[in-house]
Amino acid sequence: MLLKIFLERCQARQNELDSLNKELEKRIKKEVELSKVNYKRFEQQAKMAAMGEMMDAVAHQWKQPLNALSMMSDMMRDDFKNGLITQEYVDELADDAQGQIQHMVTTLQEFRNFFRPRQTEENFGVKRSIQSVMVLVNDEFLQNNIQVDIQSDKEILLYANENEFKHLVLNIINNAKDAFNDNDISERYIYINFYEKDGYKYVDIEDTAGGVPQNIIKDIFKPEVTSKAEGKGTGIGLYMSIQIAQKMGGTLTVKNINKGACFSLKVPL
Ligand SMILES: Nc1ncnc2c1ncn2[C@@H]1O[C@H](COP(=O)(O)OP(=O)(O)O)[C@@H](O)[C@H]1O
Ligand SMILES: [Mg+2]
Repeated sequence: MLLKIFLERCQARQNELDSLNKELEKRIKKEVELSKVNYKRFEQQAKMAAMGEMMDAVAHQWKQPLNALSMMSDMMRDDFKNGLITQEYVDELADDAQGQIQHMVTTLQEFRNFFRPRQTEENFGVKRSIQSVMVLVNDEFLQNNIQVDIQSDKEILLYANENEFKHLVLNIINNAKDAFNDNDISERYIYINFYEKDGYKYVDIEDTAGGVPQNIIKDIFKPEVTSKAEGKGTGIGLYMSIQIAQKMGGTLTVKNINKGACFSLKVPL
């Protein structure tokens, strides 16, 4: 008799548990769907934001060579009137013009590569990849007096989607640029180091921009966390960056050290 009651109770509990589990499963499924939708939305927003930042960079990169070409053509007219044009003159001018045009073509190519969606993961050199991000932002960073110092000599390889890695780097250095300006910093350095240690590959990006404000440092990788004015910040950049790091099987962390923030990407060998 007792055993029967006990078994019945057990069964009732079991049923209760089962239905609770089902309910939970349903809720988890719903949450997962929701977070997928959110992720897509954030991804789209991040792309648009990055696109805007890149367009600015390209416009900066093109301004100077366009000016130079325009000046050359003006000068050519006067110099011809004054009888200064020789074979040597023409050669030199043509070389100069080619150099300026090459600069514009390189920027444009980098820009196109950046946004051509390549789904594939591959081995690529970290140094080379960072250098090609620098091609895109060089002029803008120069104008902002920011010196980017790629300190490691020895190339290391990463296995990942290279475009995503470039986005991560661009997000981090653009944030540093914003921090230099927002905090009115005069000494503006970004140090980049990459190396292998204890079974991990590291890419460290350190700046001298004063560090991440303590009250938000815990949250900056969450979506829509920003300290910037409305219309200036979206709070999406670092959220996307940490997603990219996790997709590589790695982590992205931040620490305030020395004179600023240090972001560290860590991926198992
Ligand atoms: N290098 C940095 N120095 C200081 N603060 C930073 C740095 N990088 C990020 N932050 C802080 O993290 C916040 C979130 O960055 P992010 O996700 O890229 O969004 P957003 O740049 O649109 O604000 C920034 O608003 C800023 O407060
Ligand atoms: Mg940002």
